Amino acid sequence: MKAITLKLMNRNISLPRLNSVIILVALFLTISCREKKTEKSSDTVDQRVDSVLALMTLEEKIGQLTLYTSDYDVTGPSIRENYKDDIKAGRVGAIFNAFGASYTRKLQEIAVKETRLGIPLIFGYDVIHGHRTIFPISLGEAASWDLKAIEQSARIAAEEASAEGLHWTFAPMCDIARDPRWGRISEGSGEDTYLGSMIAVARVKGFQGEGIGKLNSVMACVKHFAAYGAAQAGRDYHTVDISDRTLREIYLPPYKAAIDAGAATVMTSFNELDGIPATGSKYLMTDILRKEWGFTGFVVTDYTSIMEMIPHGIAEDTASAAALAIEAGVDMDMQAGFYNDALLNLVKQGKVKEDLIQAAVRRILRKKFELGLFDDPYRYCNEEREKSTVMKPDFLNAARDVSRKSIVLLKNETNVLPLNKNLKRVAVIGPLAEARNELIGSWSAAGDWKKSVTLLEGIRAAAPSSMQVVYEKGCNINDDSTRNFSKAVQVARQADVVIVAVGEAASMTGEASSRASLNLPGVQQKLIEEIQKTGKPVVVVLMNGRPLTIPWLDKNVSAILETWFLGTQSGHAIADVLFGAYNPSGKLPVTFPKSIGQVPLYYGMKNTGRPMDPNNKYTSKYLDETNDPLYPFGYGLSYTTFSYGDITLSKNRISTSGELVVTCAVTNTGKVSGEEVVQLYLRDRVGSVTRPVKELKGFQKISLEPGETKQIEFKLTNADLSFYRRDMSFGSEPGMFDVFVGGNSRDTKTISFELTN
Ligand code: NOJ
Repeated sequence: MKAITLKLMNRNISLPRLNSVIILVALFLTISCREKKTEKSSDTVDQRVDSVLALMTLEEKIGQLTLYTSDYDVTGPSIRENYKDDIKAGRVGAIFNAFGASYTRKLQEIAVKETRLGIPLIFGYDVIHGHRTIFPISLGEAASWDLKAIEQSARIAAEEASAEGLHWTFAPMCDIARDPRWGRISEGSGEDTYLGSMIAVARVKGFQGEGIGKLNSVMACVKHFAAYGAAQAGRDYHTVDISDRTLREIYLPPYKAAIDAGAATVMTSFNELDGIPATGSKYLMTDILRKEWGFTGFVVTDYTSIMEMIPHGIAEDTASAAALAIEAGVDMDMQAGFYNDALLNLVKQGKVKEDLIQAAVRRILRKKFELGLFDDPYRYCNEEREKSTVMKPDFLNAARDVSRKSIVLLKNETNVLPLNKNLKRVAVIGPLAEARNELIGSWSAAGDWKKSVTLLEGIRAAAPSSMQVVYEKGCNINDDSTRNFSKAVQVARQADVVIVAVGEAASMTGEASSRASLNLPGVQQKLIEEIQKTGKPVVVVLMNGRPLTIPWLDKNVSAILETWFLGTQSGHAIADVLFGAYNPSGKLPVTFPKSIGQVPLYYGMKNTGRPMDPNNKYTSKYLDETNDPLYPFGYGLSYTTFSYGDITLSKNRISTSGELVVTCAVTNTGKVSGEEVVQLYLRDRVGSVTRPVKELKGFQKISLEPGETKQIEFKLTNADLSFYRRDMSFGSEPGMFDVFVGGNSRDTKTISFELTN
């Protein structure tokens, strides 16, 4: 057969003559659109996608559905030879774990110059809480309840990542998590659907900035769809079995909010849901995501989750797993290689419709066009820009600011904090005081732990010259050696105040890091018990990625600061709080239980038919523990105090079309200025299905000078009163509602109103 030769992305392409007329038209569209770079209407992109699709063989289309990892080691990213061969052979549409302007350029060159069609690659990476400048872990950042700061941290991450050749981050993680045994609770926004949804939106806005295709933006990826956080017993990758009502009411809204905010992509989850692994679930990937929610981006698997459908016991081999996934609506296969291995034969045998593959490729190519990669595949590979962007002083300052906003003051007896500047000697003790390598937490992307500021360094930098700062490690994070206890106790004895930094290793949270105990690991509590005996005031600085069971600390030490893993600027941010340069304002995004036997414990529980009564054995409670948390959701102290006035309502009765204004006066009753997160909760007293005892429906972070009062207003509409009713329709029901306003989910003022038809 005679062939004609055409040029696409500067590549000579040989094409069979039969198709040449169609192809010439297609190429004309592609090339003419390339000239009008600013024209980004959806029609234009669709036409351009079609023009490329018309050139592709089925094998090349399947190749576009594949995402492989490059190798990554301490000296920087590299790629295995066979992945380069796969790229050359057109068997890869995207690469992850490769970053850096020059490195991504090299890989892009293989795709653009050495494949038949020269279709550019997408580069993805886990940019979870910062890229080079590392911000607090996501759970910690959620404790700031500061949506602007959270958006800004995602924005900075996107600036850095895109300057290093990346187009796509695997974030935000929108999984609601109510079981602190699950290590990945650290990667999300905690237990609450409303807060989680607001934060999901802030993160998508931050990552995608002014839109995909802007040079400083990256595509967001909403993960892990769906309900990964409901893994039974908090064990990672474990079974999820929840009702459709709970799925829709508690777990789905944050993913949906992120998609409504324009998130470009979605990642499936590892877990099964009602007997079907998410990656093979048409209900999730097509019915809910695309049909109900109108999602138009592409769906990628979480890692080898197509392959994992074999051990799940729902597919017997590569082909059946690949068929399940593509039929469910999953567009891109991360790392399993099952699409590459099986889809061609499945189509040839008539077992999978080619249309499904066509639709998946179209979604992926669309994003490549929107990213501008067909206009210039190297547009994100600018070494100059990379140099001037990464870890800029502005970014470090922003990280310090959001880090200190994320710190939660859990206890401050006799106002030991902020530290008195006249103290002569401060002892800094504990395995996390100098543990530079732990501070950036899990999923710290391309963050360089060597660049983070330790607590000891932060304290030394902030302490006045008259204050002596002495250090002793005392013990390790997680072993049973008490060998160095005596040295630590000696140092404590000579100090005016002892700051003890304890908690978890970064690797004890994140993926595959479930714990069966929530206690401080190793002998850390024992160390504090010994120090406590000196009678010196003890300030505990916690670094950890999940709620810990610390009732002994709460009872015995003078002050406790929850600092999570704060990232690059950890030490400075904590010192700002310790010395009062910043008045803590963080509030817990997750309940802290007293003991592990209470788990799962969250504020938005149901009342049950036998609510807890201390005087009645036959009520819902434990014989050996109370039902109360150690620290409730939304809790956090300040160096000042706030008082809440009575709540007033604009009306006592509203109709479904009405609006209710809830007002509450909040006063700073202390001596220093401070910020407070004013929280509004609702309870629907009687419904056609039972309702939680409290649901967060609004919050405002405000700042008050000493003595200042602000009238805080919240507006409630029918949407805030709606839920999945008995027949699963979404809407409200007439009746009485309680409104609660306060500084945490437990200590609130209350009032009620009626909703009429
Ligand atoms: C597996 C994790 O579950 C997911 O969150 C992550 O994005 C991918 N691996 C890629 O690293």
